[in-house]
Amino acid sequence: MYDSLLGGRDNFPADRAACGELLKHVPSMTELALNNRQFLRRVVHTLAADYGIRQFIDHGSGLPTQDNVHEIAQRVDPASRIVYVDNDPSVRAMGSVLLESNERTAVLQADMRDTAEIFESDPVRRLIDLDEPVAALFVSVLHCIPDSSRPGELIAKVADRLPSGSMMVVCQLVSDSSEIRDFVTGFMDEQTQGHWGRVRERADVAAFCAPLELVEPGLTEVSAWRPVHDDVPAQLTWEWEEYGGVGFVRR
Ligand SMILES: C[S@@+](CC[C@H](N)C(=O)[O-])C[C@H]1O[C@@H](n2cnc3c(N)ncnc32)[C@H](O)[C@@H]1O
Repeated sequence: MYDSLLGGRDNFPADRAACGELLKHVPSMTELALNNRQFLRRVVHTLAADYGIRQFIDHGSGLPTQDNVHEIAQRVDPASRIVYVDNDPSVRAMGSVLLESNERTAVLQADMRDTAEIFESDPVRRLIDLDEPVAALFVSVLHCIPDSSRPGELIAKVADRLPSGSMMVVCQLVSDSSEIRDFVTGFMDEQTQGHWGRVRERADVAAFCAPLELVEPGLTEVSAWRPVHDDVPAQLTWEWEEYGGVGFVRR
């Protein structure tokens, strides 16, 4: 569904039909997806160029699109290393083809909740040096995790694995309207046969980010996070938003 909103070609009629249905309730959905992807690009460039991060673990990376994390980071420094993690087998298949010739980048098919499995996996052992700062990305993915999987504990667990001075990026769908929260959560739960979390509130995201020392501007709607240019359409309605920020892991 996300790929079809971004104008990708790797989606099915069922994905497009589900997007059409959801758009009736959350008309800003396409701009929200485009703005989220633009945030991801901006944040990775900022982490690499301004904070010197050279290693990235991208949890719930999604299907490859234009300007993926490794392309942005390796433009700043070709020595940057990236491990993409996603539980969708088509992400693994397409990512592996795309990355065949990039020895500093790997795709791991895993559940982002399996922190031990991820950190002990071959790609992470091979590419990520846990004595140097790492960026762990959770961009537009925590709404895929139900409360029973304790998303806040997941962020704390990953933070614990990372050396001090590492950074984390966390954002997810939030809404002030309980009607929108309930509708989208129910709809996506049905579409994914129970493999989804929920649209939450800003305070939930703030609680997830408690282990982090947030950098400016703190937690915000993502298009307002250090905006640089307006090359994606602004969100016209605010029935929901993608909300989050970036912070240091300190010990
Ligand atoms: C909305 S996309 C976000 C993609 C990318 N992070 C971005 O912001 O452009 C959510 C991604 O999370 C993945 N995902 C959902 N639940 C997951 C889980 N439990 N473990 C790993 N990946 C998951 C989905 O397959 C999908 O690719």
